[in-house]
Amino acid sequence: MELSITKRQKAFINASSGEVLFGGAAGGGKSYGQLVDALLFALKFPGSKQLILRRTLPELDKSLVRCALELYPRNIFTYKASKHEGYFRNGSIIDFGYCDSENDVYRYQSAEYDVIRFDELTHFTEQMYVYLISRVRGVNAYPKQIKSSTNPGGVGHTWVKRRFIDIGPPDVEHEGKIFIPSLVTDNTFLMKNDPEYIERLKRLSKKDREALLFGNWDIFEGQYFTEWNRKVHVISPFEIPKEWRRYFVMDYGLDMLAGYWIAVDTYGRAYVYREIYESGLIISEAARKIREATDKEVYAYIAPPDLWNRRQDTGKSAARIFAENGVPVIAAKNERVQGWYNLKEWLAPFRDETGKMCASLRIFSNCVNLIRTLPALNIDSKNPNDVANTPHELTHAPDAIRYFVAGRPVPAAVQKEEITDAPEFDRQIEDLLEFN
Ligand SMILES: Nc1ncnc2c1ncn2[C@@H]1O[C@H](COP(=O)(O)OP(=O)(O)O)[C@@H](O)[C@H]1O
Ligand SMILES: [Mg+2]
Repeated sequence: MELSITKRQKAFINASSGEVLFGGAAGGGKSYGQLVDALLFALKFPGSKQLILRRTLPELDKSLVRCALELYPRNIFTYKASKHEGYFRNGSIIDFGYCDSENDVYRYQSAEYDVIRFDELTHFTEQMYVYLISRVRGVNAYPKQIKSSTNPGGVGHTWVKRRFIDIGPPDVEHEGKIFIPSLVTDNTFLMKNDPEYIERLKRLSKKDREALLFGNWDIFEGQYFTEWNRKVHVISPFEIPKEWRRYFVMDYGLDMLAGYWIAVDTYGRAYVYREIYESGLIISEAARKIREATDKEVYAYIAPPDLWNRRQDTGKSAARIFAENGVPVIAAKNERVQGWYNLKEWLAPFRDETGKMCASLRIFSNCVNLIRTLPALNIDSKNPNDVANTPHELTHAPDAIRYFVAGRPVPAAVQKEEITDAPEFDRQIEDLLEFN
């Protein structure tokens, strides 16, 4: 028997994290990758037990079971259809399962598995997943893993995104979890055999097309920042040249300190390069943490104007307490709609001098909370120009970035020359700094 696999399938098969998610677009070779991986595991570890699941029985029979029967050599694998069990000559087992309702999970109550595999994970609820992964256990020394595959979208979109996508850059393990993206174009077999497939995907609605063709996790109905594009706006960290001007900007409340360090290059483009995102900090603690995380000189510390309102207990404003604790803040403008419009301008993609897609504001991949919440913001149902205030947790990081761009003109899209002179906005800041 001869098997070939794609590069991305190989990455999935080699992934050794406790929880692995393989996915992105439709036709990326996810189901096929699962079955090859399951086969290799079964052969390598005699007597091993695996469970591979789809949400419903018809889907299970039509996709995984059918594909396994074509793929697995008859002389080593037998399948018992009535029990949905597959047996290997070396004693290894693969159970083919499904989970129609929440209660279905209890079918697996007494079971033990070395590996559980979910195909189309977003079709499952988080409760199903969490219960079933507790069935991964056993006394043998075989690796214990949960390996899933999926497209974006589906009832489980949000929890899967939170668990695997929002944790940081793909192809890197974060606390035992890893996301391995695979696009349809990574599936060389499909590209060769069915070149029309991509054309068919292109004819879907924008939302489905983004999910199924591009594996985009960030797009949904009612999204405010529709210009968001992870490939343009999220970049790998690089060392900031020392002549670039640095800013710190924050939204502060006891419920959340969302603070960002932002550098501006000589074209006027901004790079959000560091994040602090912590709840429950009183002002002096918040100030201490900000100071500790500030390694290079910051030109201005920017904060929302409501920090200047007097506080009852000490009679001092929050801004004053920040200043006394070494963070001399200046007040940003707080006109919401104008600020969001500004941010849209800063995010608008364009081609730079070299022809590459670019935006005036980009974010280092380590700023995970900003990357998670900015694209997730909803349109306010009462005012379509504004951002919804709920879920409240989504608003902290974007508010901080809004304070940074408020009143700050967007640099020209394509600039032949570098800016050597301080822009008008920084002159205004200078006046404020003097005034403080
Ligand atoms: N390594 C491979 N070798 C041969 N054919 C493959 C391979 N990987 C995927 N395919 C084929 O490509 C098509 C799409 O793969 P599939 O696993 O069903 O994608 P997905 O589950 O991501 O939608 C299927 O027809 C499958 O048989
Ligand atoms: Mg599939």
